[in-house]
Amino acid sequence: MEIRKIETIVVCGAGTMGSGIAQVAATAGYQVVQFDLNEAVLLASRQRIQKNLEKSVEKGKITRDQFQEILNKVQFTSDLTSCKGELIIEAIIEQKDAKINLFNQLIEVNDSDTILASNTSSISINAIAAGIRYPSQLVGLHFFNPAPLMKLVEIIQGKATNPAIVASLVALVQSMQKKPVICKDSPGFIVNRVARPYYLEAMYLVQSGQTHFEQADKVLEAAGFKMGPFKLMDLIGLDINYSVSTIVWEDLGKPERLRPSVVQKNKIDQGQFGMKTKKGFYEYE
Ligand SMILES: NC(=O)c1ccc[n+]([C@@H]2O[C@H](COP(=O)([O-])OP(=O)(O)OC[C@H]3O[C@@H](n4cnc5c(N)ncnc54)[C@H](O)[C@@H]3O)[C@@H](O)[C@H]2O)c1
Repeated sequence: MEIRKIETIVVCGAGTMGSGIAQVAATAGYQVVQFDLNEAVLLASRQRIQKNLEKSVEKGKITRDQFQEILNKVQFTSDLTSCKGELIIEAIIEQKDAKINLFNQLIEVNDSDTILASNTSSISINAIAAGIRYPSQLVGLHFFNPAPLMKLVEIIQGKATNPAIVASLVALVQSMQKKPVICKDSPGFIVNRVARPYYLEAMYLVQSGQTHFEQADKVLEAAGFKMGPFKLMDLIGLDINYSVSTIVWEDLGKPERLRPSVVQKNKIDQGQFGMKTKKGFYEYE
């Protein structure tokens, strides 16, 4: 199977995930176009990547010259016509129609063989493929948060996905020093399906007054989990985590045990999305 040569990666969405993925791609030597509609988010992404790379210099992981080289590889833009590459990684809001709409716009400015990858946590790749012009070019490429640190990447093969694309992305993920795992297109794929009860049961306990969120985090961390569920939801973004819970719940036929939590919905209604808004379950500076 022929492995596609990838030189330029377009990362759409410069939020929590897009920014991290852009850093990973540039560090692995790819040219990166980092696109977002919001100029303030683009600026924040640049600052975040710069800060992370500064830390790598301090730790002796990269030299000052490499720092500059990596940063120079990333072009930040809010102009969709600049989004040209051999691979597009979409990391915008977790809404099917927004993703379909963006892919169809990107198809207009790219070659027909450009790989279209979605970083979606939960939306069916088949459902996105059904709305776009080149369904066989679409694949799931699911990085974990924070992308520069987390090794696992799920590659989701849809019904129409060209198998050569999956092979190309396995090689790409390896070139980023990460671990690719090929998954089927089922609700939540592997990790987000298995992780649902971790968040939901913790919120049910709080809702029913059986524990406080800080206590739940402390107990689960003492039991060996790296992050308690509430700290983890704040890191992920409550809006994103709630969308993922809702999509997995709906796609599985709305089982009662996976019903999204009102505790989380109330936070979102108050604009408390977690670290990115400086307030979620916890407060941040
Ligand atoms: N947060 C996580 O832990 C996590 C982990 C893995 C995957 N994901 C997935 O990654 C995707 C992005 O999540 P996130 O947490 O980075 O979200 P985020 O809210 O931090 O960032 C989303 C960004 O997309 C931008 N955007 C929205 N519509 C756009 C459009 N049409 N064109 C360009 N930019 C647009 C917004 O301005 C925002 O900056 C989602 O699909 C999510 O499910 C999230």
